[in-house]
Amino acid sequence: MGEENNRQIISTGLSVACPTVTDTVARKAQNAMKFHGSKNYIATRDLMLSVNAAITLQRPLLVKGEPGTGKTMLAEEVAAALDMPLLQWHIKSTTKAQQGLYEYDAVSRLRDSQLSDLDGGERVKNIHNYIVKGVLWQAFTSEKPVALLIDEIDKADIEFPNDLLREIDRMEFYCYETRELIRAQHRPLVFITSNNEKELPDAFLRRCFFHYIQFPDAATMQSIVGVHFPGLKKELLAAAMQTFYEVRNLPGLKKKPSTSELLDWLKLLLAEDIPASVLQSQELKTALPPLAGALLKNEQDVTLFEKLMFMQRHNR
Ligand SMILES: Nc1ncnc2c1ncn2[C@@H]1O[C@H](COP(=O)(O)OP(=O)(O)OP(=O)(O)O)[C@@H](O)[C@H]1O
Ligand SMILES: [Mg+2]
Repeated sequence: MGEENNRQIISTGLSVACPTVTDTVARKAQNAMKFHGSKNYIATRDLMLSVNAAITLQRPLLVKGEPGTGKTMLAEEVAAALDMPLLQWHIKSTTKAQQGLYEYDAVSRLRDSQLSDLDGGERVKNIHNYIVKGVLWQAFTSEKPVALLIDEIDKADIEFPNDLLREIDRMEFYCYETRELIRAQHRPLVFITSNNEKELPDAFLRRCFFHYIQFPDAATMQSIVGVHFPGLKKELLAAAMQTFYEVRNLPGLKKKPSTSELLDWLKLLLAEDIPASVLQSQELKTALPPLAGALLKNEQDVTLFEKLMFMQRHNR
């Protein structure tokens, strides 16, 4: 136990009671690595603080927020800003934790053993040829420090985060087939995103730094739009933003439009050459906005919008 802990201190620089020189050096290097935003991604001060806190703590950053508020893009942009390769693991309902470590391809080995006598069966003898490395293996053994995105962790079953506790904490795992301990040469910068479809276990949460991306206020949203449509006319932007927030703030919407939907809508308005005056006109304020399918994504919301507009028209 004692020996194992010592080994851990040297290999990953985790915070322990008695830091070594290696530990201090690693920590200083990590601290020098700060995210100050990027030209493609508008990060609020809070978000930058959270990214840097996760870097300092050397813990995964768990990012939640409405769909389309830039959780996945954050990992891509931080990795690019810090000049780190990004390894991505997109989680599905069927994903198992083991797939992130490695898989042993026994079927191919059996097939090769029956079919191939080209190289005198040399390939079959070496079990390493049949180990399919997962993203964690790749991240742990990378020469350069890397960023690792575990995207939409809430899609997997409830055991998934629990099954990764040790790997996330210790940054090591054992490959039984090859009898190797795979240990992180550099602790990867880990981003984990969730859309809150499932609760995450407490033991998992305690190992992460958490950030909730608040829905952008109007000023932040303008900056985000500015990144995507630098030449957009002020008048059209103001009219589109007003309509967007009116739609978004309708009481009782099942699915509120988010940042990515506003961007899609603007793209369509530009493509169709719809002027600001159309969005501002009084008749339109009491009907569905043009190309509303980019903003409202189900029939109940469309009906709700129409009903509220109808009531508004009759109250005037
Ligand atoms: N802060 C931002 N700065 C620049 N673009 C943004 C920002 N937030 C969102 N976007 C835009 O919105 C799009 C959607 O972002 P992203 O895919 O990262 O959302 P998400 O939160 O991961 O959504 P989901 O939960 O559905 O996966 C991005 O491709 C980008 O164009
Ligand atoms: Mg995403």
